[in-house]
Amino acid sequence: MNSRTILKGTGLSKKYGNLEVVKGVSLSMEKGEFVCLTGKSGSGKTTLLSLLSGLERPTSGHVELDEKDITGATEDELALFRRENVGFIFQSFNLIPTLSAWENVALPLFPIKMTGDERKRRATELLDRMEMGHRMDHLPSALSGGEKQRVAIARALVNNPEILFADEPTGNLDSATEDAIMEILNRLHIQERVAILMVTHERELAKNADRLIRMHDGEIIS
Ligand SMILES: Nc1ncnc2c1ncn2[C@@H]1O[C@H](COP(=O)(O)OP(=O)(O)O)[C@@H](O)[C@H]1O
Ligand SMILES: [Mg+2]
Repeated sequence: MNSRTILKGTGLSKKYGNLEVVKGVSLSMEKGEFVCLTGKSGSGKTTLLSLLSGLERPTSGHVELDEKDITGATEDELALFRRENVGFIFQSFNLIPTLSAWENVALPLFPIKMTGDERKRRATELLDRMEMGHRMDHLPSALSGGEKQRVAIARALVNNPEILFADEPTGNLDSATEDAIMEILNRLHIQERVAILMVTHERELAKNADRLIRMHDGEIIS
């Protein structure tokens, strides 16, 4: 693997019973690259993202993430690896409803040896960067969709990952809010050189994406 490659999937397949939903896909990403993955609902985008990020195991094929072959890792090794190297953003935000904004952001820091003050400082810093400093004590239920997604992005960044996986991050947002979230992702890409692999609909395509990958029926078609 060349040193600029951050993610490399080779011959990835995933079967659920007899149904093969990802069919021998190979895909590489360079450090700092912004790649959009698009295609019809059911074409296998979420499954491919799960394979590449170590959330799911492929039926066959290999994944190298941050120069480590994660295919043979145990569940514990994978969980640790994901926490330290990868950020996730989902369409449904996936915030913990009983925790405030800053507590949600700080959650991935808990396994790390840090004082409560340090965790809060780190979470506050990230929320400030997302222009959410004034909402840090709010529960998710008191936040708008766009604000929830800002909190989720702050949480995804809290461990300084080199790569972010985003699955339709603006799918539940109105178009103005969608533009604001896309702007944040573009800024992360340009200013901080975070690699981003984002599943998205055609109409939401990031203006600054380096590359567009289209899926159909479990295969990459362009
Ligand atoms: N855990 C699962 N068990 C069985 N089938 C699944 C599972 N997850 C996804 N699928 C099927 O795999 C196909 C691809 O799903 P998905 O990757 O979610 O597509 P997309 O994100 O492009 O909409 C769909 O037909 C879906 O029903
Ligand atoms: Mg999906």
